[in-house]
Amino acid sequence: MSKSIVRVLTGITTSGTPHLGNYVGAIRPAVAASRAAGVESFYFLADYHALIKVDDPARIQRSTLEIAASWIACGLDPERVMFYRQSDIPEIPELTWFLTCVCGKGLLNRAHAYKAAVDKNNAAQVDPDSDVTAGLFMYPVLMAADILMFKAHRVPVGRDQIQHIEMARDMAASFNHLYGEHFVLPEAQIEEAVATLPGLDGRKMSKSYDNTIPLFASREQLRKLIAGIKTDSRAPGEPKDTEGSALFQIYQAFATPQETAQLRADYAAGIAWADAKNKLFERIDSEIAPLRAAYEDLMTHPERLEALLQAGAVKARSIATPFTSKLRHAVGLRDLRAQTGLGAQKKDKAALPSFKQYREDDGQFYFKLVDAQGKLLLQSEGFASPREAGQAVKRLQQPVLALAELLQEIRVKHVVTVQELESALQTMLAARD
Ligand code: TRP
Repeated sequence: MSKSIVRVLTGITTSGTPHLGNYVGAIRPAVAASRAAGVESFYFLADYHALIKVDDPARIQRSTLEIAASWIACGLDPERVMFYRQSDIPEIPELTWFLTCVCGKGLLNRAHAYKAAVDKNNAAQVDPDSDVTAGLFMYPVLMAADILMFKAHRVPVGRDQIQHIEMARDMAASFNHLYGEHFVLPEAQIEEAVATLPGLDGRKMSKSYDNTIPLFASREQLRKLIAGIKTDSRAPGEPKDTEGSALFQIYQAFATPQETAQLRADYAAGIAWADAKNKLFERIDSEIAPLRAAYEDLMTHPERLEALLQAGAVKARSIATPFTSKLRHAVGLRDLRAQTGLGAQKKDKAALPSFKQYREDDGQFYFKLVDAQGKLLLQSEGFASPREAGQAVKRLQQPVLALAELLQEIRVKHVVTVQELESALQTMLAARD
């Protein structure tokens, strides 16, 4: 059952105000996908990442609030998905360090964002690393920690992020090779079907082009911004081209196929640009208005969002904390009272606890579990045939291993004697009957 669950994870950098391009390209499809069966979704506010680009504390806080409010207003259900803030999970920077120590520096030298900065400096004939922070350089390692911490299978991202997912795979594989199979190798998920939305000037809607329409602009602002979308100079009555029309493309992202076909017919019939813009405005506003009301309500209640994120952090840490303990142990950050393994360096089969099967004088078949030194840990009743004894061992092996793993993960410090455990278990079974 749990095998068929696909874990999908994505982060949103808290460095700006969500715009319609983010809504169409990321928020709307993600909220829809999070409702599918068999999917476990992780959405988080990548505020550590935001620090790489933004050094204005008020803007970081404002953006975090706006993005959290936007996702919830757009229907993300925090009961159903993991919704948390990266900086609430201290295990993430810890894992970042573990990965830093297995990540080749050369790999980071080849990261697009870093290379672009260096190329720019070279072109300007200044020091190649001029104005490049170590944060920008380390960006892919932090992102790998985000992904690997929750064993995500799929990471929906834009094309510009594919390289980062490959790098996360690389780091996961290096770590696994050195310390055992701890990480799942993630895959990028590129939504071919989701069109990129053009902005006011016809280029891709993006903060860096300053051509965006804020997702939760007021109705009046929205009308004004739409009126400013670039069109050609064809007069009312002249047929218009849908090809290359930003207005048409934006309309299509919100409309049903029938509505789109109707607008295409209107274009051919020479609809006035002002009328087309009005049509677009009403179409967008009908979808956004109810979400906007929810957004405005949330923005005036930051305490609700704060509580929701903190609850999300508790859920996320219930995974991150035990997993990090396991990783600490794997790399050798261990309780000194635990056996060091020095002197027993070779992974000798004989030095492990094991099940043994044997026959007693009574003619019955038995098994026992003995530790590395041969001390008896567990002893069966007699079975009529070796097959039955063997089957019992088979049934026991997996739960015993699972128990060992669980005790380590939750860092149980003390286990009672077998006698105490046995009588407690018997009482529990009796109570169940
Ligand atoms: N780098 C991503 C972006 O700019 C944001 C991000 C941070 C992310 N951590 C992530 C995305 C982990 C996916 C998975 O869009």
